[in-house]
Amino acid sequence: MTRRDLINLRKFVAPEFICGYGALHLAGRYARNFGMRQVLLVTDPEVRAEGWTEAVATSMTGAGVSFTVFDSVSPNPRSSEVMAGAEIYQSEECDGIVAVGGGSPMDCAKGIGIASSNIRDICTFEGVDRVRKPAPPLICIPTTAGSSADVSQFAIIMDEAERRKFAIISKMLVPDISLLDPEPLTTMPRELTVDTGMDALSHAIEAYVSTGSSPMTDVHALEAMKLTSNVLPAVIEDPGNLELRHLSLLASLHAGLAFSNASLGAVHAMAHSLGGIYDLAHGRCNALLLEHVISANYDAAPERYDRIGAIFGSESTSPAEKIAAFRRSLGIMETLTDLGVREEIIHTLAGLASTDPCMATNPRRFTCEDIERIYEDAL
Ligand SMILES: [Fe+2]
Repeated sequence: MTRRDLINLRKFVAPEFICGYGALHLAGRYARNFGMRQVLLVTDPEVRAEGWTEAVATSMTGAGVSFTVFDSVSPNPRSSEVMAGAEIYQSEECDGIVAVGGGSPMDCAKGIGIASSNIRDICTFEGVDRVRKPAPPLICIPTTAGSSADVSQFAIIMDEAERRKFAIISKMLVPDISLLDPEPLTTMPRELTVDTGMDALSHAIEAYVSTGSSPMTDVHALEAMKLTSNVLPAVIEDPGNLELRHLSLLASLHAGLAFSNASLGAVHAMAHSLGGIYDLAHGRCNALLLEHVISANYDAAPERYDRIGAIFGSESTSPAEKIAAFRRSLGIMETLTDLGVREEIIHTLAGLASTDPCMATNPRRFTCEDIERIYEDAL
């Protein structure tokens, strides 16, 4: 960033959030404070099975707030699921939404909110600032530490007809309040902890090198990287440790504040097209692409990448190699080929990634051929 860049106009949007042990149990009180009388409680079957939906429901009942549970949400939330949720929101005459879960239920809840208030199909909101009417009040309670949907202006939805994931980016998607409680994180299986942690790390790195970065987003991005480099290896060894889970939640929060305002880059653009076609876990796609995008981007922001590298060790290896070593230390050893990605599809994947809104703030301009080469490197 040059001195001239420092005075470029930038805005910073963040929701109100409460962070700490027991925050989840404030859901009912805040729903009532927002004037909600009939809530659509958006979640998914896994979170429900772990008992976290029930804990939020108990809080609602205690505060005298009625609710309807909607848990038909896939790991990569579909447009039809959003529209089904919006239909229930209307038919149950809901006046607010509470989302409990990872990025999928939260993104689905955001989609339900804007589809309901604007009475439009969710696929018509694709892109930046395409939402006209504000969504109803939204409370988010994350049960993973990675997506940062609980603080971001983003929602990622799968267009089933076209079998691709698309991004909706709008201030209207920022939740009204997020309740960040470390306790629900303790039931995450190891793989989910790793994948969501690598998602948070990808958010922080992409925000830090984004052409939309600012001194304010840099602070959060760097803190997220420092926390992740220390905490993620520790938390997978001690998953029930509330202090470590809290620190991983903070890492995700910092990364979310950074990327929500600086936007992202090629890793996410390419992960979205992979996730759309192959229906793969988002964090795992990021983890397998990250080091290859860093190599391809390095010359466009060498000082920034060197600073990232310094956080991940003092060896004389490149930042891309340090991130690769970090990935391996977490037990992620496979390639895109191992996930079933075939070479013949790379041209299609690259075409989709090149038009993803996240690509607009990547530090280097990539041609479709450049993107194809990165996918090939990750095979
Ligand atoms: Fe992400």
